[in-house]
Amino acid sequence: ASLEAACYPLYFGWFLRHSFRDELEGLAKDLLKTLDSLEAFKKHLSDFTAEGEGAVNLEEYFQHEGPVHCTTKFCDYGNADGAKEYAESQVVQQRLGSVTELQLQALFVTPRTLGARVALTPEQLQLWPTDGDGGVGSALPPGSRAHITLGCAQGVEPVQTGLDLLQILQLQQQGQEGVHVEDLELGPLSYYGNGIWVLSLREPRVGPALFSCFHG
Ligand code: A2P
Repeated sequence: ASLEAACYPLYFGWFLRHSFRDELEGLAKDLLKTLDSLEAFKKHLSDFTAEGEGAVNLEEYFQHEGPVHCTTKFCDYGNADGAKEYAESQVVQQRLGSVTELQLQALFVTPRTLGARVALTPEQLQLWPTDGDGGVGSALPPGSRAHITLGCAQGVEPVQTGLDLLQILQLQQQGQEGVHVEDLELGPLSYYGNGIWVLSLREPRVGPALFSCFHG
């Protein structure tokens, strides 16, 4: 194998343009501030705090490092299942370096992660790996897991954000739509139990992102 072929990235994904990233981080910050001040959130505070702790600062609770992006394929430098096939596929090679418009449809907060749900277009779905949504047995449509990690609680790995989103979608699929808590400026806020909060964006946000890869 050539040297080039042996150089697989940590992951492929869509990387948000700075302006779009700033907009999204602003939305997330607003949501956290609102949650912090909501009586309904305070009622369920124990999901986020150790026993006896009276308050939590959500803006400090969630930390994020690295580029803000939506992972398509986690390659782990070629060690992940299907990584090489994905990296070498024609559609990936063709689209590297191209800009697309990503659509965000919801923000979610759990005791573990802060994320945004991404709605993929059919064209974007061509870059979505076949094993991208929880593997065989997943009843969710392709692209369900598409998301952007905006923050993780201490000791939580970013991979958790996608798992949290899948859990929310599974609850919805079982008919558990969550309890409507309040209509915020950005849209309706629902509580799904166990510290899971979902804000559906009344007007989905759309912004530019570059399809590329990250080597770490
Ligand atoms: P996410 O896409 O939810 O943000 P790490 O820093 O832990 O190596 O992760 C690098 C990126 O790859 C993160 O964006 C992370 O999650 C994603 N990621 C890590 N592990 C996996 C995995 N097993 N499946 C899918 N995505 C992963």
